[in-house]
Amino acid sequence: MEEQQKSSHVVLVMVTFQGHINPALQLATILHSKGFSITVVHLELNSPDPSNHPEFTFVSIPDKLTKSQLSDKDIPGLVRSVNKNCAAPLQQCLEKILHSHHHIAAVIYDSFMFCAQPILNDLGLPGVTLCTHSALGLLLYHVFPQLNEKDYISGLESPELQALQLQRFHALSSQNPTEAGMEVGAAFANALKSSSAIIVNSMEFLELEVLSKIKQYLPTPIFIVGPLHKLAPTMCNSLFTEDNKCISWLNKQAPKSVIYVSFGSIVNIDKQELIETAWGLSNSKQPFLWVVRPSMDRGSEWIESLLNGLEESVGERGFIVKWAPQKEVLAHAAVGGFWSHCGWNSIIESICEGVPMICRPFFGDQLLNASYICNVWKTGLELQNMERGNIERTIKRLMVDMEGNYIRKRAMDLKEKAAFYLMEDGSTSCSFNGLAKHISSV
Ligand code: UDX
Repeated sequence: MEEQQKSSHVVLVMVTFQGHINPALQLATILHSKGFSITVVHLELNSPDPSNHPEFTFVSIPDKLTKSQLSDKDIPGLVRSVNKNCAAPLQQCLEKILHSHHHIAAVIYDSFMFCAQPILNDLGLPGVTLCTHSALGLLLYHVFPQLNEKDYISGLESPELQALQLQRFHALSSQNPTEAGMEVGAAFANALKSSSAIIVNSMEFLELEVLSKIKQYLPTPIFIVGPLHKLAPTMCNSLFTEDNKCISWLNKQAPKSVIYVSFGSIVNIDKQELIETAWGLSNSKQPFLWVVRPSMDRGSEWIESLLNGLEESVGERGFIVKWAPQKEVLAHAAVGGFWSHCGWNSIIESICEGVPMICRPFFGDQLLNASYICNVWKTGLELQNMERGNIERTIKRLMVDMEGNYIRKRAMDLKEKAAFYLMEDGSTSCSFNGLAKHISSV
């Protein structure tokens, strides 16, 4: 079996946005450890550094994308461009790989890269979809829209789905559907129909009801393989340079006193919100570590003077970086809270370290993820409005008040469940063995 797997070749089609690169390369690392050889096909934009992974073969395809498109809020528009621009080069690339490797066991493609599936159908190759978002994202955006109104409404009746307030999200997405949104949704649903399996970076106990609902409507096998960052922990796939000085600063802070603030790799906050954030942090009197990425207008005169002014007013109590070693930060004893945009990777990383959250979702699946945290797991608080007084109060509620103790305890409980899931239960290794078997047999 081991020998048979050694000859098996997997092609991974990766979208090179930070929140997609991390789980994709972690997955590839684990599959490689199980005996598969790996070719990573990726966009030219944000090409990963192949020297970080000498064990893989990297091939880039032209994408005609610009960096500025990455900071656009129109995610469906961006995904549509990726698929339009990349379909032909991807086809040529896969044909070439097929020509040189007589056997490709499977092609795993990022769910954002659904143009892969019709190409694979033509080439007679099995496709597997990789979701870097939650199973809930899969349910809401790709399963429910395929149902008739009656099935859809009855599908929302379970207590957890009620708590998630899915009706609200359904109403939001059906109110003003954009052309790109509808096109992308339909193309993805089509791809799923002929995909041979779906991989989700999640943990079963987090999404039990959602998973059972998906299985009710979608016959495709689903492999829940998270938390990927814990299973392939040693790699650094950052597109930005990590500033490790913040760890020395954290070492000097009291246990659980620091609020860590980061909005992931894509979100850009506007000028007023950035100013309110700065003053909210300053007025809270809590120690903070704040990531302000270069693309968040850093380098511009006004932002540098705002940050300099903030540093002067808070002194040693605050630390601002362009990019942090996030997993290390979340695992640090001094960190007591995480104010986040609620990207799925950030959520999974935070759960595994038992860090309670302040949720400020911006768009897309971040809104669903925030609903999980605030309404179902109850491991965080929602930041309702971005005004400095409200920010100050919310930070104090989480970090200082009694209310925060309850939330912290729930976050620690979830961390314990995750640790148990990883160690004792064997769920993830079962999922990986199932996935390896699936890939070898399709
Ligand atoms: C996006 C979406 O928001 C997310 O919901 C989707 O499912 C994947 O793509 P992004 O917005 O960048 O990703 O957020 P997130 O999913 O949290 O991923 C960010 C990654 O960058 C995390 O793995 C985090 O550890 C890392 N990071 C972030 C750093 O290493 N340092 C930082 O300073 C900030």
